[in-house]
Amino acid sequence: MEKETTVGNRSRRRVLHGLAASAWAVGGVVPPAAWAGEGAPADGAAALTIRFAHVVAPDTPKGLAVERFRQLVQQRSAGRIQVVVYPDGRLYGDHDEMQALQLGAVEMLAPSLSKFGRIGFPEFELFDLPYFFPDMASVQRVTQGPLGQRMLDRLVRQRLVGLGFMDNGFKHMSANRPLLEPAHFAGLRMRVQASRVIASQMRALGARPVTLAFSETRRALAAGVVDGTENPISNFWTQRMHEVQADLSLTQHAYLGYAVVANQRFWDGVAGADRLLIEAALSEALAYGNDIADAQNAKALAALRESGVTRVHELNVAQLEAMRRAVAPVHAALAQRIGMQWLMDAAEAIRSG
Ligand code: LMR
Repeated sequence: MEKETTVGNRSRRRVLHGLAASAWAVGGVVPPAAWAGEGAPADGAAALTIRFAHVVAPDTPKGLAVERFRQLVQQRSAGRIQVVVYPDGRLYGDHDEMQALQLGAVEMLAPSLSKFGRIGFPEFELFDLPYFFPDMASVQRVTQGPLGQRMLDRLVRQRLVGLGFMDNGFKHMSANRPLLEPAHFAGLRMRVQASRVIASQMRALGARPVTLAFSETRRALAAGVVDGTENPISNFWTQRMHEVQADLSLTQHAYLGYAVVANQRFWDGVAGADRLLIEAALSEALAYGNDIADAQNAKALAALRESGVTRVHELNVAQLEAMRRAVAPVHAALAQRIGMQWLMDAAEAIRSG
């Protein structure tokens, strides 16, 4: 079996420890004790600053939902609570964002669900299973129901507070050739997120998974370090991956979404009324983001077609069936890692619609 390759997985532990030590002192952030205090400081500075980092472009479902959250919090707190958004991996990226959050160097993140397996929550990888969710409504029956809540509640074991789920959409495959059936993947190096399920899916198709940070993906595609990748079209388009990938095949093979998480120590230090304000703003922003996610991906596909740079391919029924058959063993192979009970509960939630 081909071994998964990890590129650029540089440890920034030392840097992060330094950052955590000074986290309360940078960026105008005041220490937790003052957060619980009354009102804004006399100089008009924000009483509470929330640094919210993510790795995608502002003009994506995630970028737009986080921006809506920022605006709502700012308006409703009359500027007393500031949300400073760092998109495009500008503050932290895939390699270090979780650790930065746990250390308090950033207050909130929205990592993809695929990124929770490696920090001790393999059940989140059920979202990566190929052809598991027939549509977005079935995803939401899991994320917006008691099962999703149970998943979020468990994050506290890693000092994270799970505040909600956010959709992007279904992923498609790109390369410098059409990928319409398993034989087309033979020998390709495909960039993946750090998820065992996704790596296993690529191997089942005959490709070699290469784990890379999102921020490094376009460059790696351009340099030929990897041959192809998978992502929802909004990510593909806003990263301008179409400029370095000749073909996009609409495989719609698996879901990509996010969990919004906060640092637990930060969250515990927020005064009750402010916490309610933040929660309400987030829940509204998530509803908005989940509402526009489909449309954003459709808009990106239209723009991609319009640009005429990348050829867009549809799969016919027989090709889709061959893809499904090729990746079917991934479910059984990863069931134990994900947890049988989680899988059965998710399957039941999907059926319940
Ligand atoms: C990826 O790494 O491909 C995605 O998780 C990026 C994102 O946050 O949508």
